Amino acid sequence: MVKKFTFGKPFDTEAVVKKIEVSKGKTPFGSAAKKNGGLCWKCALEKDDKIFGLGETMRGVNKRGYVFESVNSDQPIQDESVKSLYGSHNFFIVFGKKTFGVFVDYPGKVVFDLAFTKCDEICVTTETANADLYFVIPQKKSGALKEIAREFRTLVGKSYIPPKWAFGFCQSRWGYACAADIEKVWKTYRKLGIPLDSICLDIDYMEDYKDFTVDKKKFPDFKNFCAKLKKDGVRLVPIIDAGVKKQKGYSVYEEMLAKKLACAKKDGSTFEAGVWPGDSVFADFLNPAARDWFGKKYKVLLDAGVEGFWNDMNEPALFYTKENLRKIFSQLEKFKTKPLDATGLFEFMSIANSVCNNADDYKSFYHKVSAKKAGAFAATKPDKDKNVLVNHAAVHNLFGYNMTRGAMEAMDALRAENGEAARPLLYSRSSYIGAHRYGGLWTGDNHAYWGDILLSLQQIASLNIAGFLYTGSDIGGFNANTSRDLLLRWTAFALFTPLFRNHSARGTREQECYQFEKPEAFKSMIQLRYSLVPYLYSEFLKAAQGDGLFARPLAFDFEGDARACAVHDQLLIGNEIMAAPVYVQNAIGRYVYLPEPMTMVEWKNGKVAAQKKLPKGDHFIEVPLESVVFFVRDKKKVPLARAASCVDKLDWKRLSFIGDQSAAYELVDRE
Ligand code: GLC
Repeated sequence: MVKKFTFGKPFDTEAVVKKIEVSKGKTPFGSAAKKNGGLCWKCALEKDDKIFGLGETMRGVNKRGYVFESVNSDQPIQDESVKSLYGSHNFFIVFGKKTFGVFVDYPGKVVFDLAFTKCDEICVTTETANADLYFVIPQKKSGALKEIAREFRTLVGKSYIPPKWAFGFCQSRWGYACAADIEKVWKTYRKLGIPLDSICLDIDYMEDYKDFTVDKKKFPDFKNFCAKLKKDGVRLVPIIDAGVKKQKGYSVYEEMLAKKLACAKKDGSTFEAGVWPGDSVFADFLNPAARDWFGKKYKVLLDAGVEGFWNDMNEPALFYTKENLRKIFSQLEKFKTKPLDATGLFEFMSIANSVCNNADDYKSFYHKVSAKKAGAFAATKPDKDKNVLVNHAAVHNLFGYNMTRGAMEAMDALRAENGEAARPLLYSRSSYIGAHRYGGLWTGDNHAYWGDILLSLQQIASLNIAGFLYTGSDIGGFNANTSRDLLLRWTAFALFTPLFRNHSARGTREQECYQFEKPEAFKSMIQLRYSLVPYLYSEFLKAAQGDGLFARPLAFDFEGDARACAVHDQLLIGNEIMAAPVYVQNAIGRYVYLPEPMTMVEWKNGKVAAQKKLPKGDHFIEVPLESVVFFVRDKKKVPLARAASCVDKLDWKRLSFIGDQSAAYELVDRE
């Protein structure tokens, strides 16, 4: 059951798709009151209560004990102090004597003090007192976590389902400069017999970083190039950035201005900020006309044969504005004569560092939305079309969501016209709940750090709770130099996650599997992934169609087992598999907690090397660096296909099974 409480005049974020009557009176858990101009919902916690959810955030599966902030941020640093990442997923579940879910539907900043200030209290504060709070209350005591997750999805809508090939392996790198670079990746993977389904095109494929262009010097015949690769089962997945280059003669820029679809300042002038292309403008994705217009632009690449995209820099990231730069330069002037001593140096650095993603810049532009949707967020009186302006900062967390929405809505419309079945691949860096209906997401610019393997596991668990099923991290780490062992261990975990992409930043050590000694170890792992694609896809479909979770913490299936509920580094993948990755350098294995008897499977040299039934309880499991060890649940079996070079070539009919041979397995397929 879901109860809705409305405070003030909220902005209609369109995260919720189900109509719910507004309840009056006190909230069923905790209490809400106005505080410092915002809304503050407080709730006492019992000693053993756990908090699951909040999507893409730092720290553990149980979020208790820290303070998080929903402010979508271009955040290259992902350490434990970080309160905000790229998306805002304001849904969490309190699990304990009382178990319930809370969704704070608010488009701007929300602070989640989860027993940080007071160790037995949650305090959630929205920036203004105009918000919708939803309480998801389970009807049954047992299975409450799954029931809440399911009920939440009936509230916010079905999760996006990508095409089948999007479950294959993707190689990416910021730095592939031309067709020859891509061709090298493709051919080397094929030569080594390492399966591959897609290669991402990062910003360098474009002409001067201009969206919806392809640099002809780098890709003289892009359409044919796409077709050639596709014939061999490899798709190109170009990036689309939120910032559109300001350049006379560039049709996307000129059209956006001519049609008045750009984000504007209050005086009506176009908002400009720097991103990769230099001075740029931004489509007003909160305005349906702009969203639709931008979404239709993807067609130019679809027509060239592209079937997948990644939307980036859509928090939006703002490297600078001219206004802020002027301010900074003038403030720095005094340092020409001032000593850079203990105080001076830090002041200097803090001024210089305020250039990117500056709060005042976010306050300086507006979106056009219907007065009805804007609620108390309207900054102007309605115009003749009943539209108002809304300050960007107040609705900041909806920008990336609406970029993704616009793209998928336009592509859905095109598909309907052409009678195509599968949706294209789309995943985004920035998001808000609701975006899970239109695409997936990757977890942004992580590092080649061991802890980031664990972080990705924890983020994926929390993102599933928020409805984002198609997720994955940059395997091997985006920033910093990876090592062979790190990449192997990361791959051994990521092969269970829907988005399976190795991506790295320009300037870092090259990290395609073939850059390392004995690439056959990577081949073996990626072959396991391909053997598992029928299972993973089938489980993904079941989760998406049945509003379940594809990847989840053990607590969701073993609520009564206190040990299982505290596990923070193992994940259930579908209904049959449990993954327990090694995420410590030089470890020879790890402790694993089995909440029920399970079959331990060791995959080595491209095949199942051993299967061993283990009793419920704690086990130290040895995991050789080049092996993948995972678990099949009690009385269950998992189908394995013969690995192939790409998903299209997998034979779904000839399957073998691991685990309990007498168990049944229902394979769901749809294309
Ligand atoms: C951002 C993205 C990253 C990409 C880079 C260049 O940092 O998060 O994935 O490679 O921009 O486009």
